[in-house]
Amino acid sequence: RATLLSEYRPFSHLIDAVELDFRLAPNATRVRSRIAFRPNPAGEGGPLRLDGEGLTLISARIDGKDVAPRILPGGLVCEVPDGPFTWEAEVEIDPASNTALEGLYMSNGMYCTQCEAEGFRKITYYPDRPDVMAPFTVRIESDLPVLLSNGNPASREGGVAEWHDPHPKPAYLFALVAGDLVAHEDAFTTMEGREVALAVWVRPGDEGKCAYAMDALIRSMRWDETEYGRPYDLDVFNIVAVDDFNMGAMENKGLNIFNSRYVLASPETATDGDYGRIEAIVAHEYFHNWTGNRITCRDWFQLCLKEGLTVFRDQQFTGDMRSPAVKRIEDAHLLRGRQFREDNGPLAHPVRPESYVEINNFYTATVYEKGAELIGMLRRLVGPDAYRRALDLYFERHDGEACTIEDWLAVFEDATGRDLAQFKRWYSQAGTPRLAVETARDGNALAVTFRQSTPPTPGQPEKRPVVLPVALGAIGPDGTELMPTRVIEVTEAEQTERFDLPEGAVLSILRDFSAPVILTREQSAQDRALLLAHDTDPFNKWEAGRTLAKDALVAMITDDRAPDTAYLDALAPVLGDETLDPAFRALVLAIPSDDDLAQTLASAGTTPDPQRIDRARHALIGALAKHLEEQLSGLYDAMRIDGPYSPDAGDAGRRSLRNAALLLLSHRDEGARADAQFEAADNMTDELAALTTLLRIDRADESVARFHDRWRDDRLVIDKWFSVQVMHAPGPKAADVAARLTEHPAFDWKNPNRFRAVMGALGANHAGFHAEGGTAYDLLADWLVRLDPVNPQTTARMTTLFETWPRYDADRQALMRAALERIGNAPGLSRDTSEMVSRMLG
Ligand code: ARG
Ligand code: ZN
Repeated sequence: RATLLSEYRPFSHLIDAVELDFRLAPNATRVRSRIAFRPNPAGEGGPLRLDGEGLTLISARIDGKDVAPRILPGGLVCEVPDGPFTWEAEVEIDPASNTALEGLYMSNGMYCTQCEAEGFRKITYYPDRPDVMAPFTVRIESDLPVLLSNGNPASREGGVAEWHDPHPKPAYLFALVAGDLVAHEDAFTTMEGREVALAVWVRPGDEGKCAYAMDALIRSMRWDETEYGRPYDLDVFNIVAVDDFNMGAMENKGLNIFNSRYVLASPETATDGDYGRIEAIVAHEYFHNWTGNRITCRDWFQLCLKEGLTVFRDQQFTGDMRSPAVKRIEDAHLLRGRQFREDNGPLAHPVRPESYVEINNFYTATVYEKGAELIGMLRRLVGPDAYRRALDLYFERHDGEACTIEDWLAVFEDATGRDLAQFKRWYSQAGTPRLAVETARDGNALAVTFRQSTPPTPGQPEKRPVVLPVALGAIGPDGTELMPTRVIEVTEAEQTERFDLPEGAVLSILRDFSAPVILTREQSAQDRALLLAHDTDPFNKWEAGRTLAKDALVAMITDDRAPDTAYLDALAPVLGDETLDPAFRALVLAIPSDDDLAQTLASAGTTPDPQRIDRARHALIGALAKHLEEQLSGLYDAMRIDGPYSPDAGDAGRRSLRNAALLLLSHRDEGARADAQFEAADNMTDELAALTTLLRIDRADESVARFHDRWRDDRLVIDKWFSVQVMHAPGPKAADVAARLTEHPAFDWKNPNRFRAVMGALGANHAGFHAEGGTAYDLLADWLVRLDPVNPQTTARMTTLFETWPRYDADRQALMRAALERIGNAPGLSRDTSEMVSRMLG
């Protein structure tokens, strides 16, 4: 049942052209295909094997003559001529009953598709694998006013639209949309002079919420030209917003389909965070046009080839559009929160996995985010100029091909002359490396010893050293920089480097988070405070404050200590430093999350107690609020913005600092500022921050009701309404709040956004999810059992809320395992979910 990388074989045939003809009807859509096959010289011959799932075959012909293929569980087999031939088939499918949201399905009366990774086989019989690429012509027949597919529009007449995509593509990039939609339009002229018509398609009523996505698209198109020399290559580029969508968005050629939450935005309904995510995801999907579409993956084991690179590119883009320092901190923080969590638990897998049962289960933080870190390390190792040369070579050499990680690394080796054999281990070795650093001094000679090790992960008991680019510098006791950043390549299990640095110099190690590792190092609170005050590297400046906060919290959790005033004192000058970006100061002020603390404790060998963590965190917040009250109050007033809302990074940063202050101040003013802000806010960022603050101090009953009344007709805002109530409920109440909300008439559990709003939030409320007795575990398990037959993909993904079970005490472990076992034993469980459950239970 598992698919193995080692078993890759080229497909028996190549395809010269595909023609598809859709006659749309909700329960009986007819799909006719006409495919020009010819033998693949690299193939092994044999009969034609096509993938197909849930299809009713009406007819099949080869070169005009009826054939009777053998229908198998996942497809069909047919004897075919030795040379080229034309395959024609007609199938019937039922998009209206497709609740899995994979293949062709319906959402609010519109037809749409999601084919990555293996959804095309639910549309027609086809070699549904990324190494089979072909130009597509698509004909759509329907009464609906808007009919879209990939490529360029070819004709439109009386209920029929034709589209032609000249760029050969794998089936997973196929898309079709039909519906009553309206467009927000614009235009772009490429660096080659091509005029491109741009449109963002949404349901009537949403057309006023598209401007930001369009703006982000235009900036992305320009950026890919200036930074990577990559122009767009069709006459149209369409984005469609869909309410029912399993993931964030999809890069189908010329027709990107988005979860509507990553398109629609207005100041009143979207937060700064939403605007940022829209910008990043629009860019991500657009950048796939070159890294993913023009050059695609040979097989799904190579998923990181397109995802890691495209995430890296969207991170660079956001850094350029906003603040590189803030973006790097946010990305590192996300990596530690999601990817380290995955890499240090039962679901750990390499960036390039070697085996899967259901590929949809491998669209993970490891493939995406750690995959992006590998690109960032490569770039740091070879330098930006050589990186650009390597990328130019990649596009030149592989345009139009389906590639592997070997192809990718060969381009870097050829462009730079560097041997990447050891670097390649990053792709095959799972787990987060630990990097321990020790120093020894002899006069001005400072010896720094690095020791790296990676703990065992499932199926990989032994690990070998990897290549670690360690960026480091040093700060003098007076706060001046003694050594600017240099990059050391740590390649051995143990390696010593010597520096000429005077007594009192404080090393700043792993600047810019130059490698995705857990750095362990004894360092005094004093040295940390020095780095927080004076490090020239923004990441390590933030990291120093973060580590102080964590040390204070760990001492509070494990030894019942009082909050460390050294930390509180060190924070004040940074918060008050007006030369620092407010967004950066807001990050410095953020307290490590409960889950972050649980992970920190667990990786240091202490069993985390969710109640104690929650209590300590509250105590620190209270102490911080008290200690810094005056300064916070000043910041709250100073960061106020008069004038109309703008989502730009400058204003967003001011709001984030102001709202961070608001949350702390609520522990002093009993929510008075938050109440006032909730009433006065003219934008969702401030309104939701006020509501969240009130929820956190358990004074939000009235505001929760008012928020619902204000926004009852806006589905994306109501998702937020569901989510914050659960996310910020006091621990012991969270499961009850979630259970009550599932009975709300607006809890449309078949809609993934709504389901995640409640159940994802329950998982994200650490004290609530792990509250005594396991009621939250049981509630989540009940709902996952219910959702699985409806939508396996979303169910499987949400089972990962249980992935941390090995961290906790025996009682919680037993309860979490029991919940997983109950899911695992549900009759008829999907392949998706059963793979996840069995990997988690080991
Ligand atoms: N390629 C898409 C993106 O990175 C994600 C598609 C995920 N689909 C899936 N079935 N897991 O934006
Ligand atoms: Zn992607």
